[in-house]
Amino acid sequence: MSGSSSGGKPTPYLRSMLYVPGDSDRKLAKADDSGADAVVLDLEDSVAEGNRPAARRKVREFLDARPPGARRPQLWVRINALDDAALGDLVAVVGGGPDGIVLPKIDGPAEVETLSHYLDALEAREGIPTGRTSICAVATETPRAVLRLHEFATANLPRLVALNWGAEDLSAAIGASTNTDSAGEWTLTYRTARTSVLLAAKAAGVQAIETVYVDYRDTDGLIRASRAAASEGFTGRVAIHPDQVAPINSQFAPSDDEVRLARRIVDAFAGAGGVGTVGIDGKMFDIPHLKRARTTLELHSRFADAEL
Ligand code: COA
Ligand code: MG
Repeated sequence: MSGSSSGGKPTPYLRSMLYVPGDSDRKLAKADDSGADAVVLDLEDSVAEGNRPAARRKVREFLDARPPGARRPQLWVRINALDDAALGDLVAVVGGGPDGIVLPKIDGPAEVETLSHYLDALEAREGIPTGRTSICAVATETPRAVLRLHEFATANLPRLVALNWGAEDLSAAIGASTNTDSAGEWTLTYRTARTSVLLAAKAAGVQAIETVYVDYRDTDGLIRASRAAASEGFTGRVAIHPDQVAPINSQFAPSDDEVRLARRIVDAFAGAGGVGTVGIDGKMFDIPHLKRARTTLELHSRFADAEL
């Protein structure tokens, strides 16, 4: 995972990204105390077109009332697609200093580059340090985007900190009447898109964000699905309801057992001095395990700090 973006700021870590419709005062009022690592103020699919001007105003006011630096959670904005209302959205919100922009419905990395240029200009206009606004791309909403995911491996996109995948818009785009099988599992097309996003994110050195769990009253199901995603390498997940945030945060943070084992691995290597392998409880651990253990401890201390 990359440690910093072009503006020299630490990469914002995203276990949970809670979407809040940008036109809803009641939901915006719940955002501060949600416990999410990032709140995503939505100007896209959860806002009817007629409400867009009001939503832009509300989102800007919300950002202005929580200036960067004195802000927790991170505040992101999901704008409309670049071939739709993106520019108007950006002009309205960038002055509020959002931590990041979620870009939906891309066809590939080129749109992320275009957004980066827009942000260069708007940050300059607003006196914001160049590169401070991060980007998370929703990278599977068109068939072209799925086919181009491998291009993220070689793209030079310093603002990009996360890739997220979604099934609903892709189903619409390909004319599928369903995206799950009779057992409720993603069909092959969506499993392919999901796996490709995971690999593309890792290849690009950015966070891999699991899609929404739509059944927001089913906490057990959310926990199971999030645990599975975390064990596959996803680093965070979209939330659509405040009740989903705590279960998601818990599953995408290292567990107590993982932290204990990581400490033992790091200690064993330190104690053995300069060796490439150690044995613990009859199991072999080598350098990749040591690297992983260090990452686990780093994440653990980061989340422990965040909870203070
Ligand atoms: N962010 C902040 N607050 C939220 C919220 C969200 N995403 N979803 C619900 N709440 C609030 C509700 O307003 C309610 O508080 P209130 O009584 O003070 O109004 C409380 O949490 C409990 O909500 P509940 O009654 O259980 O759900 P609901 O019927 O109000 O809302 C949804 C259900 C699905 C409509 C709502 O969760 C939602 O709009 N989610 C976001 C959808 C979205 O952004 N989609 C696009 C990204 S995939
Ligand atoms: Mg959508």
